[in-house]
Amino acid sequence: MLPRLGSVFKDESKLDISYVPRRLPHREKELRILFEFFSFLLRDPLRMTQKVLIVGDVGTGKTALAQKFGEDITRLGGVNIKYVHVNCRQYRGSLFLLLSNVLSAFHPSFPKRGLSAEELLNILLQVMDEQNVYTILTLDEFESLIDKEGSEAVYKLTRLQESRIGKPHRISLICILKNLEFLNTLDASTRSSLQSNIVYLERYTQDQLVDILNDRVQIAFNPNTVPDDTVNLIAELAHSEGGNARFAIELLWRAGKYADAEGMRVVTPDCVRKAASSTFAMIRKSDLVQLNFHEKLFLLSIARFFKENEEAYASLSEIEQAYAITCEEYGVQPYTHTQLWNYLQNLSALGIVKKKVSIAEGGRGRTTLVYLPSISASELEKELVELLEKN
Ligand SMILES: Nc1ncnc2c1ncn2[C@@H]1O[C@H](COP(=O)(O)OP(=O)(O)OP(=O)(O)O)[C@@H](O)[C@H]1O
Ligand SMILES: [Mg+2]
Repeated sequence: MLPRLGSVFKDESKLDISYVPRRLPHREKELRILFEFFSFLLRDPLRMTQKVLIVGDVGTGKTALAQKFGEDITRLGGVNIKYVHVNCRQYRGSLFLLLSNVLSAFHPSFPKRGLSAEELLNILLQVMDEQNVYTILTLDEFESLIDKEGSEAVYKLTRLQESRIGKPHRISLICILKNLEFLNTLDASTRSSLQSNIVYLERYTQDQLVDILNDRVQIAFNPNTVPDDTVNLIAELAHSEGGNARFAIELLWRAGKYADAEGMRVVTPDCVRKAASSTFAMIRKSDLVQLNFHEKLFLLSIARFFKENEEAYASLSEIEQAYAITCEEYGVQPYTHTQLWNYLQNLSALGIVKKKVSIAEGGRGRTTLVYLPSISASELEKELVELLEKN
């Protein structure tokens, strides 16, 4: 694609979410660990399988890391190693749909109707035997599969070889998930079959985000269009959004669009600020207006909690305490726990807040944790205070 005359961009596609960068700064170590786990593949693949979990928060590079590893290992390992990456959520967590897709990668026209997931799995292994390939299957957003299919499906996937004694091993698994706690919903033996090798991806620090952004600036923008200050500001904002590289890259792209729209030659920090606040205004304002008075107070309390605390998650009782204080400030009686629980469901359905269930060690006791997606707590607070004044 020819760059547009006068645009700050050289190649916008390098900022696309599906683009897998050639280099992954600050994930070199994790890439090496993956290679260690799979080093047997380069020596004697057919005698072993491996199961690896990649765990990390939103935008910590899980998908990118796995894809990069897939590219590298297939290049080094020759024709017999195939890397297949499937996103479980895309198949609504259905093992059947997911396996049909994997099978299509080997045998595009195979008729799958009327077959069970288990039969598909056997056919898949048979086809791999025939083609003499070894597959690394990555199950991205693995939570979705657990959610839909539970232990049995996961168990089947992890114990494939047990019904194939004496035959060559064919499939290794990489499962990607945001939080290990999700595995607590699996039964103990399935869980233990999965949990041996884990690669944790920490949230990116601000400096790391600067490096990641600078790499993208090089390949996506014309020379001297993105000053250091701009990159630093984006890194700072993305760091406060939980060290989320996706947020950083999206904001970089939006700020560039903003500069182009204004006919500017340089992406200034102000383009970043405008891009950041305009996305917020576009997606959320209409949702916020519709909330009722106490829902607004409740959400305001969530925003304030995260503004005042470094924590990524808040328990419902912490939010309730903050809500009681907000009610006092607005001179109203707080609503009951059940009422607040319903508000939380509504807010999370709207995507304004997110929640997850955390299960205590040993499976006893569940706590609901609340967190904010890519919304800045202070922006949210500001919006709500303004809206409440109009009430
Ligand atoms: N170390 C890195 N270097 C360069 N780009 C990166 C790096 N880490 C992440 N990215 C980029 O940031 C974006 C988000 O990364 P990715 O999709 O891999 O995150 P994720 O952990 O899979 O997030 P989610 O949990 O939401 O699926 C992608 O565009 C990816 O290319
Ligand atoms: Mg991902």
